[in-house]
Amino acid sequence: MYFDTHCHLNSEQLYPEHDAFIKKALANQVDHMIVFGYDLESSKKAVELAKAYDFIYAAVGIGPNDCLETGDHDLAIIDEYLNEPKVVALGEIGLDYYWDDVPKEKQMDIFQKQILLAKKHHKPIVIHCRDAYEDTYQVLKNNGHPGVMHCYSGSAQMAERFIKLGFYISLAGPVTFKNARVPKDVAEKISLEYLLIETDCPYLTPHPYRGKLNEPANVVYIAQEIAKLKNMEIEDVARMTTFNAKKVFGIK
Ligand code: NI
Repeated sequence: MYFDTHCHLNSEQLYPEHDAFIKKALANQVDHMIVFGYDLESSKKAVELAKAYDFIYAAVGIGPNDCLETGDHDLAIIDEYLNEPKVVALGEIGLDYYWDDVPKEKQMDIFQKQILLAKKHHKPIVIHCRDAYEDTYQVLKNNGHPGVMHCYSGSAQMAERFIKLGFYISLAGPVTFKNARVPKDVAEKISLEYLLIETDCPYLTPHPYRGKLNEPANVVYIAQEIAKLKNMEIEDVARMTTFNAKKVFGIK
């Protein structure tokens, strides 16, 4: 019923007990998940998890905070992983100006090179963007390739611009936070036709479990909040966001 479109069961916090977290997710009717890489090691683990479980898919990529030493050899490995049938997207990739671990020029170079790989493999891109919405928008506009704005934290107005470029808007834990006016506004204003749900676990645990470790089972709370804000049934939010996810990621 629920599709957690972005999780990190490959992270050091969740991986050691991934089987238990998966069982808990299934018990909560979270029956589809995509595990995302952010560097080579996590991408490799994502592919392994997708091979081990029918209902788990993988995305591979090198994120903006992990690309300081990325070179052509690393990108060739990502290129190779993209041949795997259960690798449904290239991500997470993007720009992050909040942390200054990696110079902007380097982030931009690795981001654009990976978009070319996604085009080559005809797979969507999943974007990590923090404090870099305008630059991200320009890159995506110039490249003309569809995908998902993951853990979207920008305005509803900005979301409309990404949607026009062929992007879905994915909402995570922050939409459930009491004082999070901006993501709530996005959930209210953006049509369900363009929304996805995700946990981005182990981070960004939704209310009422804020402060605890996040896990895929919690994606239900994101759906619940969207249903409340849109004055809809939670089943309809689950059904539509699952439909959207299958469409963008090409899952039958
Ligand atoms: Ni993530």
